[in-house]
Amino acid sequence: MSCSPSGCSGCQGPYLCHCLKIHESTITDAVVTLGLRTVREICQQTGAGGGCMACHRKIARVIEACCATQSRTSLAVG
Ligand code: FES
Repeated sequence: MSCSPSGCSGCQGPYLCHCLKIHESTITDAVVTLGLRTVREICQQTGAGGGCMACHRKIARVIEACCATQSRTSLAVG
């Protein structure tokens, strides 16, 4: 596993929640695969956000981004 300016190989990307060491990809997966839509649901499911809570706004942004992407996809398909 190594990270380089051209990209990472084998790593999950940056931490979204530094206190609990939860990656952004874990949050995205929880939104997409489990259909979670609130910061509270994400925190309960992934363990993120249980420390200083500074990441709650970032979690909300991931939820918004995933929901926007899913809406565009369903609009394009449907
Ligand atoms: S950064 Fe997530 S709880 Fe502190």
